[in-house]
Amino acid sequence: MTEIAKGLEGVLFTETQLTFINGTEGILTHLGIPIQEWAEKSSFEELSYALLYAKLPTAAELKQFDADLKANRAIPAKLSEAIASFPKDVHPMQALRTAVSYLGLFDPQAEATSEADRYAISVRLIAQFATIIAAIARARQGKEAVAPRDDLNHAGNFLYMLNGQEATPEQARLFDIALILHADHGMNASTFTAIATSSTLSDMYSCMTSAIGALKGPLHGGANEAVMDMLDEIGDPSKAADYINKKLDDKEKIMGVGHRVYKYFDPRSRVLRDYAEHVASKQGKSTYYQILENIEKVVVERIGSKGIYPNVDFYSGTVYSDLGIAKEFFTPIFALARISGWSASVIEYTRNNRLLRPDALYTGATDQHYIDLNDRQ
Ligand SMILES: CC(C)(COP(=O)(O)OP(=O)(O)OC[C@H]1O[C@@H](n2cnc3c(N)ncnc32)[C@H](O)[C@@H]1OP(=O)(O)O)[C@@H](O)C(=O)NCCC(=O)NCCS
Repeated sequence: MTEIAKGLEGVLFTETQLTFINGTEGILTHLGIPIQEWAEKSSFEELSYALLYAKLPTAAELKQFDADLKANRAIPAKLSEAIASFPKDVHPMQALRTAVSYLGLFDPQAEATSEADRYAISVRLIAQFATIIAAIARARQGKEAVAPRDDLNHAGNFLYMLNGQEATPEQARLFDIALILHADHGMNASTFTAIATSSTLSDMYSCMTSAIGALKGPLHGGANEAVMDMLDEIGDPSKAADYINKKLDDKEKIMGVGHRVYKYFDPRSRVLRDYAEHVASKQGKSTYYQILENIEKVVVERIGSKGIYPNVDFYSGTVYSDLGIAKEFFTPIFALARISGWSASVIEYTRNNRLLRPDALYTGATDQHYIDLNDRQ
């Protein structure tokens, strides 16, 4: 067995009932239901339940789940104080990784790893990620954290804690859709990382802290922020084509396009593009939207044949910008949604746990002997 599956591409290591992706046709389903239907008809709370329990909730189950999330929104005062004391110039993902690890110190159940424990901790983490991320955002601006409200849904409450004022119903719904689109996505790098940690039978806080670290990178969750950096660098729609052509000539990667699995349009990018088009038709095309349109044209024309199309991060940044969210918070918001997928995947994998322990082909030296330090060149 000397064949190497670089990037573990195409390697199956477990079964799942949660998410299915057909990358060539651009299909994404959760529990067999297309992502477009989840985005149109459901809520982040309902999808989180569906992922955790691998079934659609009844009305009573959803009501109870929603009440449990609301009851767990508050974070320990010591954590709020710690967040307020974090250096203001660190990336929010660094702050989130630290805060989630810190949160575990105050959870008496933190070390417990039965399925019931993992469920209970997941509900708390889904609820508390929102409070933590909003508190980090406010602390960076030198502002006091805003206490959660239990008369708002998850999306609306997050925007309220972030901005200190209630979002409009349209804004809250749009953010809810963005969370739905990001809640789970099969065996991506951060979910795999969460599972790899859980496969040692480690605790949920360790799993989620590792997953946050994996999500942070620009090839994964960090791409949405990198897209906005690129749009800001381009600045003017008329410069987009030249900028992209030069990058491609120089064999540089364009952020927000391409995907390990999708070799056609990512269906999540379609939902977000529809929204961006809708806004453009009502308010006129924003500069960002025009730049994106021009980038998409060149990308599809020049590298579409390689299966490179816009992914979810291509349009998500403009949606978040419309909601007044700063670009360094795009990746934490990805985590805010993906905590549901991470938790659900860890719980599912743990049922048939097997320690993850792949192998590497050894290509180093052989038949060597130790050389005394003084004799080395
Ligand atoms: C996501 C990503 C890592 C997947 O890449 P991958 O499956 O490893 O694909 P490869 O890097 O093997 O790329 C295959 C070909 O497409 C090209 N390609 C892939 N992504 C590209 C991009 N974003 N821009 C330009 N070319 C790209 C590669 O250069 C390669 O070309 P070649 O065959 O001529 O060498 C990659 O597309 C990427 O870096 N995208 C930008 C970051 C991003 O948006 N990430 C978020 C994903 S949701």
